[in-house]
Amino acid sequence: MASYQPFRELSINEISSLSIENAKSILIEVNQLIYQHDIAYHQKDTPVISDAEYDRLVQLSLAIENAFPELASQNSPTLRVGSIPSDQFEKITHARPMLSLSNIFNKEEVPAFIQRINRFLNLPAETEITFIVEPKIDGLSICLRYENGKLSTAATRGDGTTGEDVTKNIRTISSIPNFLPKNAPNICEIRGEVYMKKIDFLSLNKAQEQVGGKKFANPRNAAAGSLRQKDSSITAQRPLHFFAYALGETSKLISETHSGILSRLTDFGFSVNSLITKCNSANSLITAYDKISATRSELEYDIDGVVYKIDRLDWQDRLGQVSRAPRWAVAHKFPAEQAETRILEIDIQIGRTGALTPVARLQPITVGGVVVSNATLHNEDEIRRKDIRIGDKVILQRAGDVIPQIVASMPEKRDGSETIFSFPVECPACGNPAMRSNGEAVRRCTGGFLCDAQSIERLIHFVSRDAFDIAGLGSKQIILFNKLGWLKYPSDIFLLPDKMDEIALLDRMGLKSAKNLINAIDARKKIGLERVIFALGIRQIGISTAKLLAETFETLPKLQQVCIAAQDKNHPAYQELIDIDQIGESIANDLIMFFSEKKNQQLISLLLENVTPVTPIKAQLDSPIAGKIVVFTGTLSQLSRAEAKAQAERMGAKVTGSVSQKTDYLISGANSGNKSQIASKLGVTILSEDEWITLLS
Ligand code: IVH
Repeated sequence: MASYQPFRELSINEISSLSIENAKSILIEVNQLIYQHDIAYHQKDTPVISDAEYDRLVQLSLAIENAFPELASQNSPTLRVGSIPSDQFEKITHARPMLSLSNIFNKEEVPAFIQRINRFLNLPAETEITFIVEPKIDGLSICLRYENGKLSTAATRGDGTTGEDVTKNIRTISSIPNFLPKNAPNICEIRGEVYMKKIDFLSLNKAQEQVGGKKFANPRNAAAGSLRQKDSSITAQRPLHFFAYALGETSKLISETHSGILSRLTDFGFSVNSLITKCNSANSLITAYDKISATRSELEYDIDGVVYKIDRLDWQDRLGQVSRAPRWAVAHKFPAEQAETRILEIDIQIGRTGALTPVARLQPITVGGVVVSNATLHNEDEIRRKDIRIGDKVILQRAGDVIPQIVASMPEKRDGSETIFSFPVECPACGNPAMRSNGEAVRRCTGGFLCDAQSIERLIHFVSRDAFDIAGLGSKQIILFNKLGWLKYPSDIFLLPDKMDEIALLDRMGLKSAKNLINAIDARKKIGLERVIFALGIRQIGISTAKLLAETFETLPKLQQVCIAAQDKNHPAYQELIDIDQIGESIANDLIMFFSEKKNQQLISLLLENVTPVTPIKAQLDSPIAGKIVVFTGTLSQLSRAEAKAQAERMGAKVTGSVSQKTDYLISGANSGNKSQIASKLGVTILSEDEWITLLS
């Protein structure tokens, strides 16, 4: 049996030899990471890992669930398509779910895909299956609904069932028709990908840099960020395009084949990708893959693979889907692109939380059509593990996105002039000690707002969208005001109105902009407590945890008081903290560390002299299961699991995947497994499906 390993070093082949406890802890860790990365990617439009790394996490999670089915939970991220739609937009429930695609990564998997289809359809040997090969556009999928020939709604994929209403913003895209021709079905949903051309992405980032706005990691995130704007006049300024590739709900069949649909979509006035081809064997699919792959770097837009789809719609119907991906289609992903370059220097960047991140300055090199001159080295252990030295030749990889990774150094190419990088133990920006906590790979500056590098990053976070959201106070202004000595601590923001005349005199400002800025600041003097907590930039405290804390403690001094008392783990305050759902020891420790720090206490009291946080109103649901924690197990006969879960959540319950002491009800359907035994051991109330339905009614 393999001993405990961190999942980073785990290969998929080793999974079956893990102990169940070990597999469980790895699964929890991997699923948590997937969840965090889903949020970063789908809600914040800012991925922090490459697609290849993300795919590996999903594959690990799937492989563990396959090897240990008892660990698979209904909350598994592998069952989710995309991410939870953000609260910023109205929600739209898709008339038909928006599916995801399963992936293959090797040419050897192509014949297996065809065989699976053959077997499923039980076709006579030698039956020819026609496939359509399409480039997999790296944008974001959108469902356009036309009613009586008129564009009525447009929604993002969201979690596959419910998406975000982006109709207003979609109307600003000139290549999306507002009307369909007369012969189109009355109800006609068209699905496809909104994308931004590579060249437009580069100019957008340049422009964003000049105005101190948010820069995007890649064209896909730029497209997503541009479309998911509250203000559609911003979307209108962004060059977005659309490729149509599928239908959703329609009131009339418009063709019997996928290729037929694509040609009708062209007639309807949509752009359909010109590289799409028809194939009828594994070899011809692979040839088409190679052809598209060869043009990749010359294309105006990013693609991250090709999609093989069965042409006949009756076969598509018969094949159906398996866990949110159709059996009749598959994405064949491109491998990461690699190139060789040299490390010229290693610099240290200091992030908002004080993390010291080594960044390699590279001899500029083109990988996958994008010029790369920097790459993160993550942390000091990574530099040591990969034996990366200044002056080394290295292999650089760009995997379907623009966050480049250094895969390996090439010691065989050294000439002796290379130098080992010694990682600083003092913050290069402020000179305060940079410390590593136990078990952490990251070294952090202890200076907080006293550290200029952190102070700027923290202020940028402080005014960001989910925090104080102050229009006109972007990173450019923060850097400038900081340089002028006007802005170091968050409370200084609220003293800026006293400087209105000076601000108005600044380059590219003027009285009007200065007034707007001051008004925007004044408007935030009364603000939701959750935003204030989130704005403080405490490690691991995202906006949803901030909301939870705001609802629980209702005031900042109360939260602070509990955290200070909780320094003593035997004090009831500590229990109070970790009893909050979703707050474990690690988050509790970060909260305690932050609030017990004198510097932070001063910062908060200065802030509260200017800002009045407003306690969020808790939605009080009049339901017998409001606030209860429930677990479903076994097969339900009257409802699907997803529906039962959605219904319970609508009525204020929290649905979790495993039974614990905190569980209030276990709803046990047919063929339930060991969860019922665990529940009865823990004294958790077990209800049959009928009893559950009676309780709800
Ligand atoms: S078909 C049921 N075709 O890839 C199949 N998807 O990983 C639905 N995508 O959500 C999708 N290019 O955002 C299809 N030519 C293409 C595509 C494509 C890009 C995206 C789409 C989808 C995701 C799945």
